[in-house]
Amino acid sequence: MNLKEKQILVVGGTSGIGKAVAELAFGYGAKVVLTGRNGENAFKVAKTIGPSVEGAQLDIVNDLEIEAFFKGIDSLDHIYIAAGSTKLGPVTEGELEENMKAFDTRILGSLRVVRAAIEKMKDSGSIIFTGGVSTDRPIKGAWVSGLATSTAEQMARVLVMEFPHVRFNAVAPGYTDTPMWDHILGEDKEKVLKNVAASLPVKKIASSEEVASAVIFLMSNASVTGEIIHVDGGGRLV
Ligand SMILES: NC(=O)c1ccc[n+]([C@@H]2O[C@H](COP(=O)([O-])OP(=O)(O)OC[C@H]3O[C@@H](n4cnc5c(N)ncnc54)[C@H](OP(=O)(O)O)[C@@H]3O)[C@@H](O)[C@H]2O)c1
Repeated sequence: MNLKEKQILVVGGTSGIGKAVAELAFGYGAKVVLTGRNGENAFKVAKTIGPSVEGAQLDIVNDLEIEAFFKGIDSLDHIYIAAGSTKLGPVTEGELEENMKAFDTRILGSLRVVRAAIEKMKDSGSIIFTGGVSTDRPIKGAWVSGLATSTAEQMARVLVMEFPHVRFNAVAPGYTDTPMWDHILGEDKEKVLKNVAASLPVKKIASSEEVASAVIFLMSNASVTGEIIHVDGGGRLV
């Protein structure tokens, strides 16, 4: 993997898949900056990965934070955007705008990052979004996720036409064992993930590291653009 000295930003790098990308990229010799909504926590997480890894505050729903953050960045080779979560529940319940916040964070947030970062991207650099298995296998109650993952994947295609000097790709994880599920499922996490694992062809849930290795591939291969890599244990097929 040709990432030595490459400047890599992981947006939402304090936890789960994003953190695993930061760790792998650092291991390949990249200069890594990771972000989260809490600057102190992002700094702490960065230092657990390596002394040269930088941690910074960036909430991608906040235009002012985006502006201030990118003012301090000269140039970038690659960006991975993991930031976000999901919202589960029936379409008919709750305020629509409230339900769609998870979509807005992931999609409008990603577009804010693209708009602020695009002039700083080096030729043949890349921006990678996070899609997911619910694009191809919608899950009851996870309609906000399905809308967000499919749009994230489509962004990786439409933006190639807008900014051809940068590569755009997406990783599409299936159920992946990350702290996101602790927040959403609490005590039920183990049982739910075990059931999902049993239903998959590979009989296991993906790890953050497995998803991260696909992200690293997308960064490294200068001929891959407009692509979506699925890391779902065959979840789209069953
Ligand atoms: N885990 C899965 O099974 C799975 C499957 C398909 C897709 N995905 C998607 O993959 C992405 C990463 O998921 P994960 O499982 O790794 O989740 P995670 O462990 O909860 O990590 C989410 C990351 O996003 C950051 N974040 C959340 N809201 C943010 C915001 N408004 N601005 C900036 N950063 C923000 C969090 O940082 P702070 O909390 O420090 O701000 C954290 O670093 C999410 O978009 C998720 O929906 C996950």
